[in-house]
Amino acid sequence: MATKRAFIFLGPPGAGKGTQAKRIAKMCGVPHLSTGDMMREAVAKGTELGKIVGPIMQSGQLVSDELVMKMVEERLKQPDCATGCLFDGFPRTLPQAEGLDKILDRGGFGKPVVVDLAVSDDKLLRRLTGRRTCSVGGEIYNVFEAPPKVDGVCDNDGGQLVQRADDTEEVVSQRLAAYHRQTAPLADYYRRQGVLQELDASLSVDEVTRALEAVVKRAEGR
Ligand code: AP5
Repeated sequence: MATKRAFIFLGPPGAGKGTQAKRIAKMCGVPHLSTGDMMREAVAKGTELGKIVGPIMQSGQLVSDELVMKMVEERLKQPDCATGCLFDGFPRTLPQAEGLDKILDRGGFGKPVVVDLAVSDDKLLRRLTGRRTCSVGGEIYNVFEAPPKVDGVCDNDGGQLVQRADDTEEVVSQRLAAYHRQTAPLADYYRRQGVLQELDASLSVDEVTRALEAVVKRAEGR
């Protein structure tokens, strides 16, 4: 059996994890697993999980490790994860990273390719308050840096562009604080395992994609 591949994109809110994950997952032929997207879907559908996580997400704090791990384990049972997956926004805490190591080990995955997308806090606020997302296909835009051709309308499928409820200045500052407190230490965790790649994500979207493509090709010995 070929080794299953796991890619992990670390980085602060607004670093471009989602933007790049869509491109790189497609290139690698693996599903893009965003814990944030999974939870927003649960909120939109009004499920039990959605009712619990909605207020937490809106406060800018992290959802409990227990709920997140359960959700990820369920998702990994889906057949599309048979050859691997790309995690975006997960793991976010040390217990999540340790839990994921066990899952990858049990699931026959090879060593993960972990990329830390680094951007300074001052740039992130502009990225996040300017973000708009297509309500149909999920394409990500930015009203300052990468606007759609027609205001409020997705170039790809004509879907309405919406602003995330947690992209206000106030919530963004909470999300950044949670990132520095709970997620940034994961870089050291993966550095110690010898699997961390650090990347300057303040470059343009295409430049970051090219750098990521090079990281993936190197990791796969291509
Ligand atoms: P989540 O949905 O994961 O959000 P996040 O990590 O805060 O990251 P974002 O989605 O905001 O940013 P991104 O890095 O994907 O940037 P994007 O590509 O969109 O989490 C939301 C909440 O869910 C959390 O606060 C928490 O409550 C909960 N949660 C989720 N996972 C959890 C977990 N594992 N554990 C516990 N709780 C969890 O880009 C942003 C903008 O910048 C866009 O407008 C884009 O066009 C623009 N942009 C991107 N790249 C560039 C570039 N290179 N140059 C210029 N602009 C760029």
